[in-house]
Amino acid sequence: MAKLKTLYFCQKCGAQSAKWIGRCPSCGEWNTYVEEVIQKEEITPATAWKASTSVGGTSKAAKPKALGEILYEEESRLDTHDGELNRVLGGGLVPGSLVLIGGEPGIGKSTLMLQIAMQLRDLRILYVSGEESEQQIKMRAERLGRQHQGLYILTETNTQNIFKQIDALQPNVVVVDSIQTLHSQLVESGAGSVSQVRECTTELLKYAKDTGVPVLLIGHITKDGSIAGPKILEHMVDTVLQFEGDRHLTYRILRTIKNRFGSTAELGIYEMQGSGLRQVSNPSEILLSQRAETLSGIAIGATLEGNRPLLVEVQALVTPATYGTPQRSSTGFDSKRLQMLLAVLEKRSGLRLGQHDVFLNIAGGLRLEDPALDAAVCAAVVSSLNDIPVPGDVCLAAEVGLSGEIRAVSRLDQRLSEAEKLGFREMYISQFNGRGLDLGRFGLKVHPVARLDEVLSGLF
Ligand code: TYD
Ligand code: MG
Repeated sequence: MAKLKTLYFCQKCGAQSAKWIGRCPSCGEWNTYVEEVIQKEEITPATAWKASTSVGGTSKAAKPKALGEILYEEESRLDTHDGELNRVLGGGLVPGSLVLIGGEPGIGKSTLMLQIAMQLRDLRILYVSGEESEQQIKMRAERLGRQHQGLYILTETNTQNIFKQIDALQPNVVVVDSIQTLHSQLVESGAGSVSQVRECTTELLKYAKDTGVPVLLIGHITKDGSIAGPKILEHMVDTVLQFEGDRHLTYRILRTIKNRFGSTAELGIYEMQGSGLRQVSNPSEILLSQRAETLSGIAIGATLEGNRPLLVEVQALVTPATYGTPQRSSTGFDSKRLQMLLAVLEKRSGLRLGQHDVFLNIAGGLRLEDPALDAAVCAAVVSSLNDIPVPGDVCLAAEVGLSGEIRAVSRLDQRLSEAEKLGFREMYISQFNGRGLDLGRFGLKVHPVARLDEVLSGLF
């Protein structure tokens, strides 16, 4: 038997070294090196698929081509019959792409993938699971209660065996649950280790690229929020989606982290129900539905997530500070930006916030970065401070500058039409925003303003 060859791998970034090192020179993390056995096997019949394709892959030497000579066909994307997933993928599943779906345990990754697989009715789907038994998957499928003719379940973790089954079945889409459970014969170390994850992903990547079959990979997320396994996993795949949300709340958000075939600003929203995940195609309605019109400390901001306008509820609570240093805490909104807005309110509008605790929350568990929310944040804070509610039919879409000026935001027309659709009557915007736009076209009263003071005096 050949002598075992071992190497040390950083479990964080995947860097390798011949000996153990305390601190990874490449990512700077401490104590991340773990010894892993790597041993290349002779090619056996089980590895034939890989061998035959690798021979084909290397013998074709590529030549440089003028850009103009390259023929380009509009790639035909596969419709997943799920509007939210299609959107985050950039318009559907690209043939031969490798998509990684990450998320915390229990968030609903397996449910989402099974549901998608069951919706692709006219195709042959192979759902490979290393996590659950056939019976468990069947139980879940029953729960989802959909038709599923072309869906095949394989409970297997050895990649060579998986490829054998793929060869026999010739599926149109492959789902793997999860990459951390896979195990390749070509590498000795245990499933989930850096070298295993890398090897299995490489094999699947080759398979996807050679055959044009899209592969959906489920990946776990570690406590610090990164996808378990090396960072290279994220580099290798074409698209990384993150499934997130509070396990105790029903809403789940599918976010694009990386996408070679579309924008990364997209977002899909689902609701976890007894019978699976329901697409939430009009998120503003659910985000606003629990609104009591008469409460203070609430303002509605017209924001954009990707290409989609979204009206969200910004909640603020301003109370006299009980301890020396006032607390500022923010959920779903950048806390540095909150500090800045509070300073602007203090300096430019003369509000005395220095002795108050300020808590800010974006309803529905969303995390938003759109500067257009600034005005809504200020309005919510002032509303809570003075205990005067913002009228329920007013929304805001404007950035606030350091000198208290109101700045323009992008794609105002989309925000305006969404607000109009949801029954808002008034909207505060920057006076620089309305130019070139027929504001009378929208069925709501638009207030173009130049300074934050004008917003506050208009509202309160
Ligand atoms: P699951 O897909 O197993 O999570 P993951 O693969 O990300 O670990 O989802 C598990 C949770 O979803 C579980 O707590 C039960 C819940 N669930 C529903 O609420 N409704 C359903 O129809 C299904 C199938 C699951
Ligand atoms: Mg699962």
